[in-house]
Amino acid sequence: MIALRPSSDRNVAKRSRSWGRMIRGLSLMSVVLLVGMPVSPQSPRPADEIERKVEALLRQMTLEEKLGQLQMLDGDADGSYRPEHLDLVRRGLVGAFLNVRGARRVNELQRIAVEESRLKIPLLFGFDVLHGYRTIFPVPLGEASSWDPEAVERAAHIAATEARAAGVTWTFAPMVDIARDPRWGRIVEGSGEDPYLGSVMARARVRGFQGHDYSAPDRVLACAKHFVGYGAAEGGRDYNTTDLSERTLREVYLPPFRAAVEAGVGTIMSAFNDLNGIPASANPLTLRTILRGEWTFDGFVLSDYTAIEELIAHGLAADGAEAARLALDAGVDMEMVSRLYARHVPHLIKEGKLSMAAVDEAVRRVLRVKFRLGLFERPYADEARERALVLRPEHRAAARGIAARSIVLLKNDGGLLPLGKNLRSLAVIGPLADDQKNMLGPWSGDGRAEDVVTILAGIRAKVGPETQVHYAPGCGITDAACAGMDEAVRLARQSDVAIVVVGESAEMSGEAASRASLDLPGRQLELVKAIHATGTPTVVVLVNGRPLAISWIADHVPAILETWFAGTEAGHAIADVLFGDVTPGGKLPVTFPRSVGQIPIYYNHKMTGRPPDPRNKYTSKYLDEEVTPLFPFGYGLSYTEFRLTNLQLSARRLRPTERVTVSVDVENVGPRTGDEVVQLYIRDVAASVTRPVRELKGFERVTLRPGEKRRVTFTLGPEHLGFYNRQMRFVVEPGEFRVFVGTSSVGGLEASIEVVQ
Ligand code: NOJ
Repeated sequence: MIALRPSSDRNVAKRSRSWGRMIRGLSLMSVVLLVGMPVSPQSPRPADEIERKVEALLRQMTLEEKLGQLQMLDGDADGSYRPEHLDLVRRGLVGAFLNVRGARRVNELQRIAVEESRLKIPLLFGFDVLHGYRTIFPVPLGEASSWDPEAVERAAHIAATEARAAGVTWTFAPMVDIARDPRWGRIVEGSGEDPYLGSVMARARVRGFQGHDYSAPDRVLACAKHFVGYGAAEGGRDYNTTDLSERTLREVYLPPFRAAVEAGVGTIMSAFNDLNGIPASANPLTLRTILRGEWTFDGFVLSDYTAIEELIAHGLAADGAEAARLALDAGVDMEMVSRLYARHVPHLIKEGKLSMAAVDEAVRRVLRVKFRLGLFERPYADEARERALVLRPEHRAAARGIAARSIVLLKNDGGLLPLGKNLRSLAVIGPLADDQKNMLGPWSGDGRAEDVVTILAGIRAKVGPETQVHYAPGCGITDAACAGMDEAVRLARQSDVAIVVVGESAEMSGEAASRASLDLPGRQLELVKAIHATGTPTVVVLVNGRPLAISWIADHVPAILETWFAGTEAGHAIADVLFGDVTPGGKLPVTFPRSVGQIPIYYNHKMTGRPPDPRNKYTSKYLDEEVTPLFPFGYGLSYTEFRLTNLQLSARRLRPTERVTVSVDVENVGPRTGDEVVQLYIRDVAASVTRPVRELKGFERVTLRPGEKRRVTFTLGPEHLGFYNRQMRFVVEPGEFRVFVGTSSVGGLEASIEVVQ
């Protein structure tokens, strides 16, 4: 066996941990790479000291107490705990809570666990801190549009700082589900459609939440979710069945989880969905063989909310006892909310249907993480620290900066944007223009509407006193009637420019928020059409959690900004971009379809035997729709222009174990300082299994002054060129690879390399 130098992905995550690969063997046809080396424990505390403590504690525990450690219960949405849970805590029958937060409340509950329970084992407090705790950052899909892992890491770090100060020791994030279907409302919680970008963002978020040591007072334990395949829900309908080949699972849906594990994520949440006939929360292939066997994950697995009980509804388990047995056997260590482990495991053990060793193993995993978190030494939160840390001005400033970096300029005909700050008059129109609550987006932690800067407020703060800012909502987001249309049109007529802010409400994406239509809800498109018809130059600002089908707007309105749900500082960040204090540089992390009938549509698709050809009916296309997207993955414009030239490769031929350097000049040839995201894609031209037309393998966001030129360099190695062969082994096969370097998933400079034996 020859060891390959462990390599992190140098094409972006310069500080990420190695993802350890070894060559398993060399054959004439291919090099097989064994993907997976033991991941070093996250905590700097000596591992065997923790193991000794875990064993010592385990020896003292009754079965009831052991099952207590495997039980998570829910608090209330407002952060309080339920009085009926106090006695359970006192008896050591709960290991963790979700939603209970705020230093005072957490301490009250923790005090009972630590001072009144027999073994004094501290509780974990988990909460969905996806894009901020009190200071809210853009929704994760928005953050991913920044293509800036360092900014995303910073946002997660700030979220962790605030959350930990408020007694939250564990976030149910990052959500790393790949999503290729914008009907699925939870697309907003992840990083979009691409496994490479998704893996980079997964690493960044795990690092941001956990740091190098999640016991630190400014870090929390992270939880990569939802393991696995949840994003492939049929029809985009949440909780629906998924059916994925092992190849698609390994190549598309698993990589971001693997990246999270390699970055040291402490916990994993098992998903709700049925996966190829075995629900993900009872699936031994994914939970045992892959997660623990191949990836040597040594943290613990938490079920999603009542997902173990739902094994009955899935039709996998006949009753609660069977559900408990199947989930625990498969490797789900902690049960969220349903209480089947506590109820059924004692008699399952008595009947010989489950071993004590299986229970001990799960308890060990939970305790290990609690020790790594430093909970036994410092179980309490500090109320003064909470007051001092949440919503600090520098957190808001970071949120503003990251929100601006997340904005994608979709269209800018005639250079309508940026707007001048000394316009005579401006009409700000639309139901989301002066909205605080919806800017927070779904899963907004402890974020409060009253903290939010609306878009209207951001614009007002930006323009000079000589600009009159008119405002009219026009219509509601989903209203059937549009009572304010006439007023909005009147104001637009009087104004130099109209900014129309339209989109979705926060509840229209996130969990249980699937849509069958991707149109703007309610009468909003009519509102846009009416404003556009006034002849006043119109800018559409989109606020939404998923790609929308906006063909009419893209065809007619000269300027479009995609702002997602931009968070607490939404208004300032959007105004920064509208008026050119920040040049937009975000890129789409997900394809925008022209219409819902194109779904699923994603850039890294297979070629088919009959690629679309307009001259030939018998090729892969629609009778009534284009095959191309409205806006492709990786796309986004700027107020300046960039030119890529001089693509060079360090070698044209390489062996399967070798690396090649790809470099290109990027030059700002426009009038302003701005950012470009240089993107590297490959295509394996012919292989033993068919390969996608393109696959992202590297990117870098660079900032350049007018006239400035920079050389950007990527490295392609076996981890980029390899794929799972017919035997499901990760290999690099000889043959030609096309290399594309560009500014989106379409076009770019091209070259070829050949892998030879
Ligand atoms: C259910 C969701 O699927 C999951 O993402 C979340 O973490 C839990 N509820 C807890 O709120």
